[in-house]
Amino acid sequence: MRLLLVGAGGREHALAWKIASSPLCESLLVAPGNPGIAGLPKVTCIPIAAEAVAELVAIAVAERLDLVVCGPEVALDAGLGDAMRAAGIPFFGPSRAAAEIEGSKAFAKRLMGQAGVPTAAFGVFEDLPSAEAFIDAQPGTVVVKADGLCAGKGVVVAATAEEAKSAARAMLTGRAFGEAGARIIVEERLSGREVTMMAICDGKRLALLASSEDHKAVGDGDQGPNTGGMGTTSPSPLVDEALAQTILETLFVPTLRALTASGRPFAGLLYGGLMLTPDRGPMVIEWNCRFGDPETQSVLMRLDEDLLPWLAGAAAGAMPPGRPRVRSGVAVCVVLAAASYPATPRLGDAIDGLPHPAEDLMVFHAGTRRAADGRFVTAGGRVLGVTGYGADLEAARRRAYGAIEKIHFEGMHFRRDIGLRGKNS
Ligand code: AMP
Ligand code: GLY
Repeated sequence: MRLLLVGAGGREHALAWKIASSPLCESLLVAPGNPGIAGLPKVTCIPIAAEAVAELVAIAVAERLDLVVCGPEVALDAGLGDAMRAAGIPFFGPSRAAAEIEGSKAFAKRLMGQAGVPTAAFGVFEDLPSAEAFIDAQPGTVVVKADGLCAGKGVVVAATAEEAKSAARAMLTGRAFGEAGARIIVEERLSGREVTMMAICDGKRLALLASSEDHKAVGDGDQGPNTGGMGTTSPSPLVDEALAQTILETLFVPTLRALTASGRPFAGLLYGGLMLTPDRGPMVIEWNCRFGDPETQSVLMRLDEDLLPWLAGAAAGAMPPGRPRVRSGVAVCVVLAAASYPATPRLGDAIDGLPHPAEDLMVFHAGTRRAADGRFVTAGGRVLGVTGYGADLEAARRRAYGAIEKIHFEGMHFRRDIGLRGKNS
């Protein structure tokens, strides 16, 4: 198969690594890719942005590609899937209409309401007085969210009603997130432990991948502002086989059915950001329409079979039976971030000490660039995802953190507690 992968981050490096290792893969174009991806066998990076739909379709048609795989939500939201399918190119990822499950939180919440999928109680607002009245009427604290895509921002977990109202005001009146915040969701704040479950979907059937946990706050002990994700572990110590089945049956299956019933059949990767509540079981915080970043890095590290038949099968509407095999052990991905991240990061610092990849160690590039002298330099907030695999958590952590000791760039910071939540909420 000759393929195109769209995207440029750590998630795409992990996807490209798996796809290129498939005996079914003859060649892999990546648009635009990154220097880590460019170093993989069979791979050629092409300088085309993920949202440049017309250019990407033109290449796929000219090269008569067998499959296009999409990483980021912005490309799906720009209609990349619809345009590829219209041109007769097999595509892994949902249509623009189905991608609204991530692109509009109001759409996702209403769909879950209709389908009876457990999620936080909510209201949708376009004017400030109604939002304020709703906030005042809630018995507990609330979360305020911009409706549209905000690249992982646009969510305020408010400690008080005053804080919630000022967030609502900033979004609705101040347009803090532009048009994405012209409509907001105010919802009940859930408590419990957050886990990620991802499933590959061919429009009819779902195949669960391994569970994982993101670590969103910038600092140890979940302190400090939220980021795009500072590290992940797979599996989550709280998700056993029975709970995975419950999550599949009570959250994923009815959501997929409701999407189909609303005329938006979903094929691609369905990502559930879930809360395991102590009293109400697993509940949905959010759905995403693409692989998680950095969850994908640790989940794919444990994948024990070829990913490509699953991606191609989902694109063709007929996945292999069952679900992908997973190595029993643990994977830990630690994100090395640039100085000042998650505020505007400092860029251009030289990176030294990168290890050679191994069966149990991958360094996924997320924000790097090759300087004129050939060295890697920092080029984004999240720079590298150092991902270790081991028989247990301790071994996986030792592998990842051992490698990090030798890596250096000016201003580098990372969390030292990835995977240390234990079984407590
Ligand atoms: P989201 O972008 O929707 O994933 O929200 C970002 C983060 O805000 C989530 O990972 C949670 O930590 C938190 N969050 C969002 N909604 C809720 C909620 N209803 N209750 C508690 N925490 C929430
Ligand atoms: N790591 C969170 C996300 O991919 O949305």
